[in-house]
Amino acid sequence: MIDSHFPFKTALVTGGGGFVGSHLVEELLKLNVKVICIDNFSAGKLINLEEFKDHNLLSLVKADITNFDDIVNHFKGVDVVFHQAVSKNTVCMKNPRLDLKTNAEGTFNVLEASRVHGVKKFIHASTGSVYGEPKYFPEDEEHPTNPVSFYGTSKLAAEKYCLVFKNLFNMNVSILRYFHVYGPRQEENDYGGVVPIFIRRVLNNEPPIIYGDGSQIRSFTYVKDVVKANLLVASHANNTNGEIYNCASGLKITIKELANLVLNKLNREYINIEYKDWKPGDIRHFDIDNSKIKKIGMHFDWGFKDGVDNTITWLKNKK
Ligand SMILES: NC(=O)c1ccc[n+]([C@@H]2O[C@H](COP(=O)([O-])OP(=O)(O)OC[C@H]3O[C@@H](n4cnc5c(N)ncnc54)[C@H](O)[C@@H]3O)[C@@H](O)[C@H]2O)c1
Repeated sequence: MIDSHFPFKTALVTGGGGFVGSHLVEELLKLNVKVICIDNFSAGKLINLEEFKDHNLLSLVKADITNFDDIVNHFKGVDVVFHQAVSKNTVCMKNPRLDLKTNAEGTFNVLEASRVHGVKKFIHASTGSVYGEPKYFPEDEEHPTNPVSFYGTSKLAAEKYCLVFKNLFNMNVSILRYFHVYGPRQEENDYGGVVPIFIRRVLNNEPPIIYGDGSQIRSFTYVKDVVKANLLVASHANNTNGEIYNCASGLKITIKELANLVLNKLNREYINIEYKDWKPGDIRHFDIDNSKIKKIGMHFDWGFKDGVDNTITWLKNKK
């Protein structure tokens, strides 16, 4: 359990206005941790933090991690950093240069600010995209990293910077590679995820669109489990030092199963799924080995149906 053992008093969350970051902020506040949230709100939204924006333990800082001078002083007195800020433009191939700047240089700045102020633990949010085309299944943390996108490449550079800070400055860092995170507050646009996209379309009486035959498998992981993994790694600060963990539920859900589940949950089975051509570059199959993170006590609590239910409820009530 995390609650009574959480070892840090002050946390800094970059990208705290975004999807995963806002859930982290929420859970840290529940643990009575002082939280500094840095976000430039390029993708993040104040509404994600609406419920706790007046919380006396929360400081909201609008700043850009690509500007070192603007962020460095906010790291003073911080015990643990959860680095979530990201640019995902190249997921849609729109702005690879911004991904490079935010994800590689921005991560360097966040690491350097942490070093300057003697942060005790640094947890970096990475992605399964660093692996690229699977060479074997299940993919464990030793799997070769050959990202096929600019996004994955910039995120791999960020991982490497983390490890260099550990090696050169003895910084205590851990890397969590997330996969197909979903849940409330995830965007329904191109930068968001397939779960809210399908739910929104079906709520609007539009068919879910599947690229290919729908047999592609995803390891959907509920956002609260991702937060739990972050808090667990923070709680095991020393024996997780320098380690990389796959942070995936281990579920294997096809996109067609997802579409049918959403149609069923919303009582719209009369809508026919629309099929379009397979998108080149999309990875067909995910089978992720999560045994390493389980060895430090992680249990993925959330079943897929419950997670989808919560996401539907949130989207129905979204203003
Ligand atoms: N959501 C997923 O399925 C998924 C999968 C794999 C990895 N990840 C990783 O998880 C982390 C969080 O992703 P998310 O889904 O919550 O994304 P998100 O876009 O919802 O949140 C990212 C936040 O970073 C902020 N940001 C962007 N550029 C910034 C900058 N220059 N300075 C300060 N803030 C900036 C955005 O405004 C946003 O609030 C990322 O590191 C991402 O790579 C997410």
